[in-house]
Amino acid sequence: MIILGIETSCDETGVAIVEDGVKILANSLATSMEMHAKSGGIIPENAAREQVKALIPTLKEALASANLTEKEIDAIAVTHGPGLVGSLLVGVETAKALSFAWDKPLIPVNHLYGHIYSAWLANLNPPQFPCIVLIVSGGHTDIVLMQDHGRLQWLGGTRDDAAGEAFDKTARLLGLPYPGGPSISQKAQEGKASTLNLPRPMIASGDFDFSFSGLKTAVYTLIKDKSLTSQEIADLAWEIEEAITAVLVSKTIKAAEQYQVKQIVLGGGVSANQKLREKMTQKFAGVVIFPTPLLSTDNGAMIASAAFFNNKPVSWDKITTDPSLHFEM
Ligand code: KG4
Ligand code: ZN
Repeated sequence: MIILGIETSCDETGVAIVEDGVKILANSLATSMEMHAKSGGIIPENAAREQVKALIPTLKEALASANLTEKEIDAIAVTHGPGLVGSLLVGVETAKALSFAWDKPLIPVNHLYGHIYSAWLANLNPPQFPCIVLIVSGGHTDIVLMQDHGRLQWLGGTRDDAAGEAFDKTARLLGLPYPGGPSISQKAQEGKASTLNLPRPMIASGDFDFSFSGLKTAVYTLIKDKSLTSQEIADLAWEIEEAITAVLVSKTIKAAEQYQVKQIVLGGGVSANQKLREKMTQKFAGVVIFPTPLLSTDNGAMIASAAFFNNKPVSWDKITTDPSLHFEM
């Protein structure tokens, strides 16, 4: 089954074509990252406006790169939440029009499911059930137990800021560019352990919840009224990356042990983080699966894959966007 997946929940415009949920035939992406880097973060209206311009050219590019026409597409999948309402509407309205005009089934996809299915893409050994999934993105931090496709149990998540948001906000405090994850990571390479200690929030809370908003306050308190040297900024970036990854790894290990899973799957933009990957691999070599860095961040292929394994089409006039969609269990 060949599914065309559309992803526009945040700042990216992704259109991909995926066969049977695992084989990527095309994966086109237009990003407005440079614009957001200039403004120090995403301005939702600007993101949606760029997506209106980018979506049809990205769709054409995906069809051309797969060397397919609409006749060979079996279904259209689209992210219908969670995300920024204007951005979601751009994708959903376009998918509705395509479903109607091409007479193809329309499959709404939860963006968080999409991040899970990045691990199924181009992976010769698909994840084994049961598995623990850690979704870490700019808007979400969730730990989920997955018994099978469509059998998910949410174990916990962030009570305030997401892990990616913690990277983005602390980077801004340090004067490092958006997106904060990659820039903190890069700066941290010049840094080392120092006397600049940050908390590891909720690391011993005994549940699977997270709280990252205190980190940004701790960073703010450490640096206010100070002018930091480049080395101090690097040491603080090192400590921020260390603190965030320590909590993520500790809770994921606890969940994997408690539920005796066969595999651990990571997804979402923060799963591209090298330190997180190293720490997870040290502890769980052969058990942990990461998407490639390109598939960790938002893309259309993960949406097409999630739609294949959770194929619940709706009529084009019944789909709705839901900016605060959670996990349907
Ligand atoms: O999944 P994603 O592309 O979009 C959302 O669904 O939010 O994730 C974007 C987030 C941003 O907060 C960004 O700073 C973070 O992922 N990120 C990283 C890295 N690459 C992206 N965080 C840490 N290390 C990275 N290498
Ligand atoms: Zn995402």
